[in-house]
Amino acid sequence: MADKRYRVGVVGLTGIGANRLEADSGSVLNTPMPGSHVASYAALPHTDLVAVCDLKTELFDQFKERWGDVLPDVQTYTDYREMLKKENLDILSVVTSDNRHTDIVVDAANAGIKGIACEKPLATTVDDCNRMIAACEANGVPISIDHTRRWWPAYHRARRAIREGAIGGVRRIVAHMGGPRAMLFRNGTHLLDGVCFFAESEPEWVFAELDEGFEDYFSYRGDGGRSPAGDPGGSGYVHFKNGVRALVNASKGQASGFCLEIIGEEGRLDVENTVTLSTGAGRSELLDLPPHMVIGIPAYIEELIHVIENGGELLSPASEAKKVVEIIVGFLKSQERGNVRVDLPLPPGN
Ligand SMILES: NC(=O)c1ccc[n+]([C@@H]2O[C@H](COP(=O)([O-])OP(=O)(O)OC[C@H]3O[C@@H](n4cnc5c(N)ncnc54)[C@H](O)[C@@H]3O)[C@@H](O)[C@H]2O)c1
Repeated sequence: MADKRYRVGVVGLTGIGANRLEADSGSVLNTPMPGSHVASYAALPHTDLVAVCDLKTELFDQFKERWGDVLPDVQTYTDYREMLKKENLDILSVVTSDNRHTDIVVDAANAGIKGIACEKPLATTVDDCNRMIAACEANGVPISIDHTRRWWPAYHRARRAIREGAIGGVRRIVAHMGGPRAMLFRNGTHLLDGVCFFAESEPEWVFAELDEGFEDYFSYRGDGGRSPAGDPGGSGYVHFKNGVRALVNASKGQASGFCLEIIGEEGRLDVENTVTLSTGAGRSELLDLPPHMVIGIPAYIEELIHVIENGGELLSPASEAKKVVEIIVGFLKSQERGNVRVDLPLPPGN
């Protein structure tokens, strides 16, 4: 990485935006991990956090309490457009509510930002995804989406095993998510992104039935992700162009849990934060994980900086994150039409 330093701003100062965790409380697999965007910029060697923005001014006092000792000179804004105009930012983190990413990303891309780190889900409509992608492409701005599991050792290990032929060609993926926050947009985005990560193809059509109580839920009407009441679970089916089929089993009414089963012609992988390979007549083994991976938000920001400096593909680009939104919105359309097949991509207006 070159000697350049990056001027950074963060919009959205709740936990994932600005938490300051004790050294070991954010650990994954015994590796201390800064658990927020601000903590990551404070820890990385090439980034200077110069400005933060939130609509709620009370969060500025909390920010100063948490970070005043190490980041005493950070400017605060309630209007991200003013921040973009005044701060000459290189990188912007968008850590606002699930349905409040789009305008910020579009305006930042048009204002000449060099790279954007945007929280998941990319957006809550396909039209919003398209607006974000168009603005970033028109301005040549890399945008990386924080589908955190893409930087987990288990996900890398499982994909390597698949590419090395450990289970033969992938045929089916069964994805489970349960518990009170099994909300399709808020957390199902991680589940479906995992499905797309392993399917390595374009979703072609879907059908679904949403959970009880969401029979008339046909477009997003959540509050940005805080309340489960406005964001359904559901059971769905995704057919990918390469023949992979995924069964998605996400419901608030089922026991908590989150895992993927990837079933190939010759074996199966069970993936969450470990990977179990099962082949043949009941044989199964726990696979070793890569021991020295940078993980979590710091990995995602480091990779964004690498792509700003050198070009190349992101591990979690907006084009991948849009697949997830298309699948979820496709589920809602299927519900609206009586649980029938819905072809993707969806036309404008969705
Ligand atoms: N990657 C992960 O594992 C992970 C974990 C938690 C949350 N998230 C994501 O982080 C994001 C934030 O989640 P949250 O629950 O804290 O959201 P939230 O609804 O509480 O909003 C976060 C903050 O954004 C501010 N905000 C909203 N619109 C704004 C605007 N136009 N300008 C300035 N500030 C604005 C709000 O005032 C709020 O303080 C969501 O997209 C969520 O899905 C990701």
